[in-house]
Amino acid sequence: MSSDFHKEAFDEQTKLKLQLYRLYIREWLPVFMAQAEQGLDRINIFDLFCGPGSDGDGTWGSPLILLEAISIYLRKRQTAHTAPIYIYFNDSKKWKIDALKESVATTFGELPRISISYSCSEYDDAFPKAMTIAEQNNSANFLFVDQFGISALDEMRFKELTSLKRTDWLCFISSSTFSRFNNHPSIACKLAVEKTGKWSNIHRDVACRYRELLNSSDYYIVPFSIKKGSNVYGLIFGSGHPLGADKFLRGCWKVDPITGEANYNIDGDLKSPHGHLSFFKPTKLTVFKEKLCKKITEKEVVTNKDAYLFALHQGIPSAELKKILYELKKEKVVTQVPGVSYSTIFGKGKNKIVPLLVV
Ligand SMILES: C[S@@+](CC[C@H](N)C(=O)[O-])C[C@H]1O[C@@H](n2cnc3c(N)ncnc32)[C@H](O)[C@@H]1O
Repeated sequence: MSSDFHKEAFDEQTKLKLQLYRLYIREWLPVFMAQAEQGLDRINIFDLFCGPGSDGDGTWGSPLILLEAISIYLRKRQTAHTAPIYIYFNDSKKWKIDALKESVATTFGELPRISISYSCSEYDDAFPKAMTIAEQNNSANFLFVDQFGISALDEMRFKELTSLKRTDWLCFISSSTFSRFNNHPSIACKLAVEKTGKWSNIHRDVACRYRELLNSSDYYIVPFSIKKGSNVYGLIFGSGHPLGADKFLRGCWKVDPITGEANYNIDGDLKSPHGHLSFFKPTKLTVFKEKLCKKITEKEVVTNKDAYLFALHQGIPSAELKKILYELKKEKVVTQVPGVSYSTIFGKGKNKIVPLLVV
């Protein structure tokens, strides 16, 4: 991708990336904008590679997508009294920041409770400043890292970012670079991705490396692969909260109802985890069903909460989990199908966590 990126029209893959961004931000904002009374001091949103606001055709980029979503929620009763929202737009190119300021002023004017800072810095300077702001206050943070290339979330920055409280992030990364220059020291020192198989899986390998660095089942890393020609790029989503992963997955499955994970047939040659011969080609969902069944049989998954969290880590949203549990009930693997949505399991009230098998 070139640095004249914004002078031309966005390609289909960029539009897809922005669609996933829009879907997620529209899920994320109301959660925190509705929490003003619950002691949240502020909401920080960082878009550190923000661009000028639109492409050569006038299609909106990430900053205007964000402000449009905020302005919608400011008009809704439940979210109108949000904690103050601080937005940080940064791009290394001055003309882009100047163009963005103008677009924001003409499109949105003044938005109540919203404060926007613009900076024209190198990301290397903008990132530590963002971290200092994000860790200071009793805040909810969201960071969008829409880089060209692979360096922005190297292993050190990744550890810093994932140690912050109440912080979700979305990072775009040119994963093919790891496939082509896998063992090159200048690449491996940023992120030591282990290539496990086909080039079309490389973005999953990147997600795997990030998971390895955390080594925690309480953190969620969710990849979405985007192919353009022979290159694979993608988004990686990160959150320490199951609701964050739940909401990102909902957008992914809207865009890709087969795997929730790619704009191409990423699982074209899936194999059953237990090597069963079948006339039917296993899909991500059938493979997940087999894995879940094994976990239930081995009593590693006992309740609806266990099943929900296991599904999230496998990239399966609760709507799909529920359908699979009904199938498992017919097959007598479970005896009941309790609610498996986030609000059923973690919401207020009694008896939210229920066993799947009552004997
Ligand atoms: C992929 S574009 C971001 C697009 C933007 N999210 C949008 O929706 O329009 C990457 C942006 O990062 C900027 N950029 C490139 N290198 C940078 C750096 N080292 N520091 C800050 N910004 C940089 C470019 O000027 C470009 O606008």
